[in-house]
Amino acid sequence: MIANPSAKYAPFAPIALADRQWPSRTITQAPLWLSTDLRDGNQALFEPMNAERKMSLFKELVRIGFKQIEVGFPAASQTDFDFVRKLIEDKLIPDDVTIMVMTQSREDLIARTVEAVKGSPRAIVHLYNATASAWRRIVFGMSVQQVMGLIGHHVGYLKQLTDAQPDTRWTLQYSPETFSATELEVSLEACHTAINAWGAGPGREVIINLPTTVENATANVFADQIEWMHRHLVPREHIVLSVHPHNDRGTGVAAAEFAMMAGADRVEGCLFGNGERCGNVDIVTLALNLYTQGVHPQLDFSDINAVARVAEECTSIPVHPRHPYAGDLVFTAFSGSHQDAIKKGFAAQDPNGLWEVPYLPIDPADLGRTYDSVIRVNSQSGKGGIAFLLERERGVVMPRRMQVEFSAVVQRQTDASETEINGEDIWALFRQTYLRGSSTGSDAIQYHGHTLDGSGQGIELDLSIQGVRQRLSGQGNGPIAATVDALGLPMRVDSYEERATGSGADAQALAIVEAALEGVAGSGFGVGMSHNIVTASIQAVISVANRLQERRQARGAGGSAEVNAEVGA
Ligand code: KIV
Ligand code: ZN
Repeated sequence: MIANPSAKYAPFAPIALADRQWPSRTITQAPLWLSTDLRDGNQALFEPMNAERKMSLFKELVRIGFKQIEVGFPAASQTDFDFVRKLIEDKLIPDDVTIMVMTQSREDLIARTVEAVKGSPRAIVHLYNATASAWRRIVFGMSVQQVMGLIGHHVGYLKQLTDAQPDTRWTLQYSPETFSATELEVSLEACHTAINAWGAGPGREVIINLPTTVENATANVFADQIEWMHRHLVPREHIVLSVHPHNDRGTGVAAAEFAMMAGADRVEGCLFGNGERCGNVDIVTLALNLYTQGVHPQLDFSDINAVARVAEECTSIPVHPRHPYAGDLVFTAFSGSHQDAIKKGFAAQDPNGLWEVPYLPIDPADLGRTYDSVIRVNSQSGKGGIAFLLERERGVVMPRRMQVEFSAVVQRQTDASETEINGEDIWALFRQTYLRGSSTGSDAIQYHGHTLDGSGQGIELDLSIQGVRQRLSGQGNGPIAATVDALGLPMRVDSYEERATGSGADAQALAIVEAALEGVAGSGFGVGMSHNIVTASIQAVISVANRLQERRQARGAGGSAEVNAEVGA
């Protein structure tokens, strides 16, 4: 890079449009869409699509709902010519879809293009030529007058050829290539030359397509250019004003949106922003931006993953994992605060109300995506995401303080492994942490069974304590208090919650006990899980007793001897 870029690059001169209207407009309806995936998109591939791929992408574009599809550049490629012929001869173009074919302004190419679409009930012929001063001067060595002569002559020639085939409903699309870099008066003259040579009028519409062939200014400049053209084009009522943004500055979508606000009726682009250099405008993003503003784009992206897979297969270009709406990671939150907010947002979302889940600009379900990937847990994650996964996958709703405790356990694991942890692993960690004291485990206190007396106030526990099987009795105003009494530990139960997990024959009761043990700071949680709620509660008390005693041991207050000595004393 050079120290003084202004010595090499000049800013784009502002457009004199003092009373511009577009900044205060909103977009209230979808534009007419044209997919140029099979032309501009195809031209930009290392390996252009073969006939089979073109066909599969064409069918997908039709399925999505495009009513105008640029199917190729038949005069420049035999594959494209044959493809267009196949579409027509095999009657593969639905009645509500119109194909478009592109040609440069040369008689032989125009003739070959018209030949390619012979027999089609409808066709748009897209004629273009470069108009910007750098192209006129450097590339073609032409004056403005010569450029106008070229346009008038070739549109006239196209009219003559198409008039000779009245069974086809012909539309002219004219593009002043490099429009965004062309003086506005020159663009307007070029468009009027084409419009007049075609004879635009009732029943004979012309599409005027204005490209940012190379995006060269901020998107507001393009909007000004479009509003200026919108005001000056005649006869405006017989002109479909189209835009064709590219994305060299990364603002193709903004340019298209501003252009719609400025008067554009139609947008040309490619799925996922495929196309020359940095791509054509991304129609998926544009369409779904509209959708999230409450405007149906009239394109079907309700299975966005399927669309992405077809596009990837046909173009051999992967969709970026962070691509708006479609990337694998765009509905994934790793950060703890985001996860927490999303979890709360899902819980608060009114199924019939306006969408307002924090951090999710669209309901993933509207795009056929599941919530599976919304919350993923790694070392950056917090309690919200962990709680969300446990709740969604196992129906386990943890009390808030338990969420805090368990997130530290998960954090230690992810810090150590330096990897993401999935719902399955979180559940395994949860069981390992909280379902303690089973008869097959290795805990100091192991539960084998219990008997309640008739009053429900007395209990006899069948336990192993440090491997020694024994029966302990206790009294209390319920099984939990009686179990604490039987254990004989200086332990206080602070909270108790029970839940059902699973359903039908799989249903299990889950008991969560929070308790504190003398000599151990804070409280801890234990969980019991059984088909019987009383058994689950007793197991939860035994679990938390094991955990709290372990904590005390870890502080070096007497080791396992203490467990031995204290339990049942
Ligand atoms: O980007 C461009 O200028 C084009 C034209 C041919 C419309 O693709
Ligand atoms: Zn283009």
